[in-house]
Amino acid sequence: MIKITVVAPANIAFIKYWGKRSEKFRIPLNDSISMNLSGAATTTTVEFSSAFEKDDITFSGETISEKEIERITTHLDRVRRIAHKKIYARVVTKNSFPKGTGIASSASGFAALTVAATQAIDLRLSEKAVTILARIGSGSACRSIPDGFSWWHAGKKSSDSYAESFVPSTWWDIRDILCVVSTEAKKISSTEGMENIRTSPYWQERILGIPEKIGRVQQAIKERNINTLGSIIEEDAISMHCVMMTQKPPLFYWNDTTLRVMEGVYALRAKGFPAYFTIDAGPNVHIICRSEEEQIIVEEMKRINGVQSIIVNEPCLGAHSISSHLF
Ligand code: DP6
Repeated sequence: MIKITVVAPANIAFIKYWGKRSEKFRIPLNDSISMNLSGAATTTTVEFSSAFEKDDITFSGETISEKEIERITTHLDRVRRIAHKKIYARVVTKNSFPKGTGIASSASGFAALTVAATQAIDLRLSEKAVTILARIGSGSACRSIPDGFSWWHAGKKSSDSYAESFVPSTWWDIRDILCVVSTEAKKISSTEGMENIRTSPYWQERILGIPEKIGRVQQAIKERNINTLGSIIEEDAISMHCVMMTQKPPLFYWNDTTLRVMEGVYALRAKGFPAYFTIDAGPNVHIICRSEEEQIIVEEMKRINGVQSIIVNEPCLGAHSISSHLF
């Protein structure tokens, strides 16, 4: 069988996914919108062979836990079931971002794995079908498959919960300046954390407001309006963290440097620079701005006490195959 290698980017959500309608199928409570990140990608090579006696999964340069191996083999089982083939795979994976930067690798990881495994086993699926399958591996992974800016339709059942590109990566040359403020692995994963969403008194309020925000974010991107886009994404990130902090048990993902970076962003805006933050399930801060302001924002952020490193991202292509393999 053929060997396939796929590169998939991580993505940053502008309208966040937090909470599931179905845990088993990873069907979210709400639609979400994201941008692919050029500076954080996973490369995965997959080869199936009837000569293999079991799946062989390795991460180049990193250790991999039993739990991670199990999540990957379960996903390979889904691919085998669809293809009606009982053959094992060799999988080698590498991340472009240094280990321990706190960047979530499940989105880029499951996007690369799904695209590579389905092609290597010779399944000819549409992009929509591949996003559905990747979503079952890790929800946000479905948004790393389409080009540029993705819209994940929540749907009500598995077959209508998929992601598609609504504008390509070339549409708008903006930046995501990722300020890494902690390299520790988070204690509570997104999967575990969002299981308790319904214990927050504010979760329904947040979900009710999302359809309107989805429309406004798409409009802002289509009009290339950084101030409108920025104010909605900041509001949505704060609203998601508000739900997280009021869940039982409460989840506080921010640290002192997170707050200093947020204040730094407010200070930049007070000086007239359009810069806006968004934060996922961790303390690291993503600053969204135009390419014109990249340099000044990077310089300002370097000065903040506690910022360990900075990764500058542009919008980029979604998961795609390449010709150089990892084995
Ligand atoms: C806070 O996609 O990692 O980053 O579906 O359980 O694998 P699972 O969760 P995951 O959750 C991402 C949550 C988030 C917001 C977002 O990316 O939309």
